[in-house]
Amino acid sequence: MTVAGTPLLATEGLTRHFGALMALNGVSLHVEPRERRALIGPNGAGKTTLFNLITGSLAPSAGRIVFDGHPIAGLPPHVVARRGISRSFQRTNLFPELTVLEHLRLAAASGGRGSYNILGTISRLPRPLVRAREVAEAVDLADRLGEQASHLSYGEQRQLEIGVALATGPKLLLLDEPTAGMSPEETQRMTRMLEGLPREITLLIIEHDMDVVSSLADRVTVLHYGEVLTEGTFDEVKRDPRVYEVYLGSA
Ligand SMILES: Nc1ncnc2c1ncn2[C@@H]1O[C@H](COP(=O)(O)OP(=O)(O)OP(=O)(O)O)[C@@H](O)[C@H]1O
Ligand SMILES: [Mg+2]
Repeated sequence: MTVAGTPLLATEGLTRHFGALMALNGVSLHVEPRERRALIGPNGAGKTTLFNLITGSLAPSAGRIVFDGHPIAGLPPHVVARRGISRSFQRTNLFPELTVLEHLRLAAASGGRGSYNILGTISRLPRPLVRAREVAEAVDLADRLGEQASHLSYGEQRQLEIGVALATGPKLLLLDEPTAGMSPEETQRMTRMLEGLPREITLLIIEHDMDVVSSLADRVTVLHYGEVLTEGTFDEVKRDPRVYEVYLGSA
């Protein structure tokens, strides 16, 4: 259980370098339970690296990561996943020949002990098939269960990837540019879908589309050259002239 007032996710001085390159430099980030936080910043700012550190895909060079009251920095990805963190990737990552239902069922069966079910109640996860159907509903693919992933539209494939991440029953869901490459219609559909997710699932979302950020995020953190440039509500961040400069400079 998360104690009220303590963050679900906290990083302190999180740092990662690749040789001489400081990809992430002393990042301290606190995300409250139920919060929807957007992470923005120009290309190469360190956003995906931060996700890789949180999920255990990369080890930090320095710093701490505390999730749900426990240090997790340096744990392998499958252990971090079992603690309740799942992610979707910046590029699609599906099995072309498996159907929607097969993807969701496999993910539900591989999920850890689980935490929240998709209806938002704290309870034991239902059996994989039941859960797979619930998740399909949540990601707007209930009418596509028998379709192979390769036959889905691009937008649907990205919805399925989020379904795969959700099926494991995460407390924290990390989404890396879920609307990248989408048409305006697909982006709107994805945004509505994400808005409809249960609040119990805390969201940390990397997103370049400011309309998506403004409709989804409670708070926004801006990364620049591996450091937190500023943090606040969307309106606060939007008014910050430094944020404007950073984006113009990288446009
Ligand atoms: N495995 C790696 N080895 C070497 N350099 C890396 C590695 N991963 C990332 N980098 C570098 O670290 C910096 C941060 O990269 P990262 O992918 O985290 O940026 P990002 O904010 O996600 O950018 P984008 O918006 O383009 O996805 C970049 O300069 C990148 O080239
Ligand atoms: Mg990235």
